[in-house]
Amino acid sequence: MNQAELIWMNGEFVPWDEAKVHVLTHGLHYGTGVFEGIRAYDTPRGTAVFRHQEHLERLRRSAELYYMPLPYTPEQLRSATHELIARNGLRSCYIRPLVFRGYGQMGLFPLEAPIDVTIAVWEWGAYLGDEGKQKGIRAKVSSWRRIGPDALIPHAKATGQYLNSVLAKIETHKAGYEEAILLDGRGFVCEGSGENLFVVSDGTILTPPQSASILDGISRRSVIQVARDLGLEVVERDIARAELYLADELFMTGTAAELVPVREVDDHAIASGRPGPVTLALQAAYEDALHGRAERYADWLDLVPVPAPST
Ligand SMILES: Cc1ncc(COP(=O)(O)O)c(C=O)c1O
Repeated sequence: MNQAELIWMNGEFVPWDEAKVHVLTHGLHYGTGVFEGIRAYDTPRGTAVFRHQEHLERLRRSAELYYMPLPYTPEQLRSATHELIARNGLRSCYIRPLVFRGYGQMGLFPLEAPIDVTIAVWEWGAYLGDEGKQKGIRAKVSSWRRIGPDALIPHAKATGQYLNSVLAKIETHKAGYEEAILLDGRGFVCEGSGENLFVVSDGTILTPPQSASILDGISRRSVIQVARDLGLEVVERDIARAELYLADELFMTGTAAELVPVREVDDHAIASGRPGPVTLALQAAYEDALHGRAERYADWLDLVPVPAPST
């Protein structure tokens, strides 16, 4: 991976190689952590974090769902992130805040273990590849179902929960596909291993609802708004597996992947097997929003203040 110079750990800026934890860290054993994936873009107005406050609010809510009071306010984390990006000299980057139960208490009752908070930033290109973003990716429905609300909390972005995504990702990677699609516990379409999913059918954009165990993706919400602003109809409803195969177009959204067309599912080409017009129009409009080229979405970008020159 592309290392940066500094990582923020519990209020301090520490060199990348010194950002370490004890092997008896609670979160390492039991998955008791929550995190975010955020991106900052090099925009015409300077480096800007996309929907920063929304991501930090989701982090706070994920932590609360697992009974972890955040020792820093979202505003403190926001300024720490700004300073971290500036001190690392990055113009664009991926941002990974992590809140986890730390060292000092073992066993499943975690409430006496400390809560540690770290933020890392580094340069990270298109998660599913530049070619995937242009031509579309091949996906496969995984035999693993997405975690359900009866066992875990799909709305939380919690570290332990990602074992589910990891199993699906490994299975489909070994089978030769670029991404996994998980069904929910009822057998309806849920999402990718790290992305939300959209189907274009007869000119309407469909996407699974909150009740289908999805992660409430911030890219999902943003793309829904961009689509509606373009005059497109977006409907949140349950989607049957065969609707994927019969779709006119398919695409996925996520912070790491951005907006990626899907050209094939389970060896069925989606329509012509090439990204369709709705996907391409939305992708272009969304890229403009991410990169600060769309005035309409300017308030989605949190500008990183340029540090004052030292005297
Ligand atoms: C399981 C899962 N679903 C969906 C998403 C997309 O969410 P977002 O758009 O907020 O990055 C992610 C990525 O964070 C994810 O890990």
